[in-house]
Amino acid sequence: MKKDIHIGYEHFKSSSELNDIEKKLFERAKAARENAYAPYSNFLVGCAILLENGEIYSGNNQENAAFPSGLCAERTALFWIGANFPNEKINKIFIIGGPREFSEKTPPIPPCGACRQSLMEYETKQNDNIEVYFSNLNEEVFKVNSIKDLLPFYFDATFL
Ligand code: THU
Repeated sequence: MKKDIHIGYEHFKSSSELNDIEKKLFERAKAARENAYAPYSNFLVGCAILLENGEIYSGNNQENAAFPSGLCAERTALFWIGANFPNEKINKIFIIGGPREFSEKTPPIPPCGACRQSLMEYETKQNDNIEVYFSNLNEEVFKVNSIKDLLPFYFDATFL
């Protein structure tokens, strides 16, 4: 029997359509992107994470001459939060990426598969959804309400 999966998402044509906290996250992610260490790909990604207590923390991609030793922006920030605030809930993550040289053609950058899996782990751990926003330097934004929307048929601890 054939079945379909439908996901809902929001599309903002410009960051001016975002509310105040979303705008703040956008700005923090954009600023974090500027500090990305990406000398090999020249593809800079920044993210900002809003905790339930209102605090915002950011991260960016950290590359390495031994390529697989580098890490994406999302996991850099997530693991730091996991290490320092293990009991704080994560409400939102805002991701912005693009080539060092701005290209109007770059679409909003969604989180890679490994980062989706890591986000899934934290959703499971906190038993609550994490809203995911992803954007580009044109300030076009997509939003999903849960990482589950980006990771159908996800693997988690229930299979172990
Ligand atoms: N990158 C991220 O930081 N997040 C993603 O979700 C996609 C890719 C980084 C990894 C690498 O440093 C560069 O972008 C090019 O793949």
